Amino acid sequence: MKLIFLHIFLIIFLKSSNGFSDFDALMKLKASMVASNTSALNDWKTGKSHCSFSGVSCDQNQRVTALTISNVPLFGTIPSEIGVLNKLVNLTLVAINLTGEFPAEFSNLTSIKFVNLSSNLLSGDFPGEIVTDMTELEAFDVYDNNLTGKLPLEFVKLKNLRILRLGGNFFTGEIPEAYSEFPSLKILGL
Ligand SMILES: *[C@@H]1O[C@H](CO)[C@@H](O)[C@H](O)[C@H]1NC(C)=O
Ligand SMILES: *[C@@H]1O[C@H](CO)[C@@H](O)[C@H](O)[C@H]1NC(C)=O
Ligand SMILES: *[C@@H]1O[C@H](CO)[C@@H](O)[C@H](O)[C@H]1NC(C)=O
Ligand SMILES: *[C@@H]1O[C@H](CO)[C@@H](O)[C@H](O)[C@H]1NC(C)=O
Ligand SMILES: *[C@@H]1O[C@H](CO)[C@@H](O)[C@H](O)[C@H]1NC(C)=O
Ligand SMILES: *[C@@H]1O[C@H](CO)[C@@H](O)[C@H](O)[C@H]1NC(C)=O
Repeated sequence: MKLIFLHIFLIIFLKSSNGFSDFDALMKLKASMVASNTSALNDWKTGKSHCSFSGVSCDQNQRVTALTISNVPLFGTIPSEIGVLNKLVNLTLVAINLTGEFPAEFSNLTSIKFVNLSSNLLSGDFPGEIVTDMTELEAFDVYDNNLTGKLPLEFVKLKNLRILRLGGNFFTGEIPEAYSEFPSLKILGL
C-alpha cells in the first residue's frame, strides 16, 4: 500500500515538476524575447496553464511540443532556457525581429523536427555544433537573418533533413564539398 502511494505521489510530483519547469522556461523566454519597449504575449502569465498560452502546444504530460509565434515585433533575444523545452518538435518563430545569437543550449532540443526562425535579426557566427544531436531534424530555416561564419558542416550528418535554408545571411567561404553528401536533402537554399 505504501509503495502504491509512493508511486502515485512520484507520478504526480514528476508530472507537475516537468510542467513547472516548462512554465518557468516559457516565462524566461517571454522576459527575454519581448523587448521592454514592446508589448506581446500578454496571455503568457501566472495563474494559467502554460499549455494554453498563445502559440504553445503540449503533449499529454504538459511538456511543450510546439512554439509558434509569427509576425509580431518582439525585438528581444532567445535565452538559454530554450534548452529546458527538450520535447519541442516544432519551433516556429518567424518575422518577430529576434536579435542576438543562438544560445548553446539549443543543442538540448533533441526531439526537434522543424525549426523556422526565418526573417529575424539573429546574428553572430552560426554554432553548427548545436544541431549535432538533432537526429530527428527534417527542416531548418534561418532564411533572412544576420548570421555569419562558414557554412556549417554538422547538418550533413542528419539523416532525416529534407529542407535547409541558410540564405539571406552573411555566411562566407566556399560551399563545402560535403554538401554533396546530404542523405535526404530535397531543398537547399544558400
Ligand atoms: C524597440 O526597440 C528596437 C531596438 O531596440 C527598435 O528597433 C524598435 O523599433 C522599438 N520598437 C518600438 C515599438 O518602439
Ligand atoms: C522588424 O523591424 C524592421 C526594422 O525595424 C521593421 O521594418 C519591421 O516591420 C519589423 N517587423 C515586425 C514584424 O514588426
Ligand atoms: C537539457 O535536457 C536535460 C534533460 O534531457 C535537462 O536535465 C537539462 O536541464 C537541460 N539543459 C538545459 C540547459 O536546459
Ligand atoms: C509548425 O507550426 C507552424 C505554425 O503553427 C505550422 O504552420 C507548421 O505547419 C508546423 N510545421 C509542421 C511541419 O508541423
Ligand atoms: C518558414 O516560414 C516562412 C514564412 O511563413 C515560410 O515562407 C517558409 O516556407 C517556412 N519554412 C519552412 C521550411 O517551412
Ligand atoms: C544586420 O546586418 C546589416 C548588414 O551588415 C547591418 O547593417 C545591420 O546593422 C545588422 N543588424 C543587426 C541587428 O545585427
